[in-house]
Amino acid sequence: MLIKKENQVVTIEVHQFCDFTTRETDALAALRSTVDFGVPPYVWASPVDRPTRVLLWKNGELVGHAGVLERTIRVGTDEHHVAGLYSVMARPDVRGLGYGSMVVRRAAEVAEATMPDARHIVLVCLESKVSFYERLGWNRLDAPVRFDQPDGHRLLEIVTMARPIGSAAWPSGDVDLHGLPW
Ligand SMILES: CC(C)(COP(=O)(O)OP(=O)(O)OC[C@H]1O[C@@H](n2cnc3c(N)ncnc32)[C@H](O)[C@@H]1OP(=O)(O)O)[C@@H](O)C(=O)NCCC(=O)NCCS
Repeated sequence: MLIKKENQVVTIEVHQFCDFTTRETDALAALRSTVDFGVPPYVWASPVDRPTRVLLWKNGELVGHAGVLERTIRVGTDEHHVAGLYSVMARPDVRGLGYGSMVVRRAAEVAEATMPDARHIVLVCLESKVSFYERLGWNRLDAPVRFDQPDGHRLLEIVTMARPIGSAAWPSGDVDLHGLPW
């Protein structure tokens, strides 16, 4: 996707992390170094378990990123297949211009197109980001959410949100992410 506006060239690309060249690896490290997620110091899913990346370049610089993965979680007593949205970021000097929303929307499109078994797109975030994701179609989950850490099973202290793919309703019951958080 290419967007041209006032001498700015914005491109949005979708890459597999395993196919990253040095350009993408270095650009993502540079972008990541500018962003503070402010989340608890959990052990998060590793980069290789976060395969699909949406990269937003502005005039050749990487200024936005979001990723999607697939995971079978448990809700109540049943398994529930979801896409997981992670590492949503916009470089601090370009925030408020819609780039964060663009990478989230593109990541959702990728999940819908490539993850046919996924019923929802699930993310975890700070309270301060809830309104951002609500505007993009996500709803907060009220049920307790548990996840794995190297020292055992833990209760998530931050917000979990889900956006349906199609018309799926969120099932009732406690949530278990079945692995490290993303
Ligand atoms: C969250 C984050 C990705 C948002 O990126 P962004 O590019 O600023 O996002 P957008 O511009 O699409 O929307 C952000 C805000 O700008 C507003 N906005 C959107 N388009 C706009 C425009 N053209 N002009 C002015 N404001 C605009 C939105 O309404 C939104 O308002 P809010 O601050 O009340 O939520 C960014 O703040 C970030 O990287 N934060 C740190 C990392 C992080 O916490 N990521 C979330 C992990 S779950």
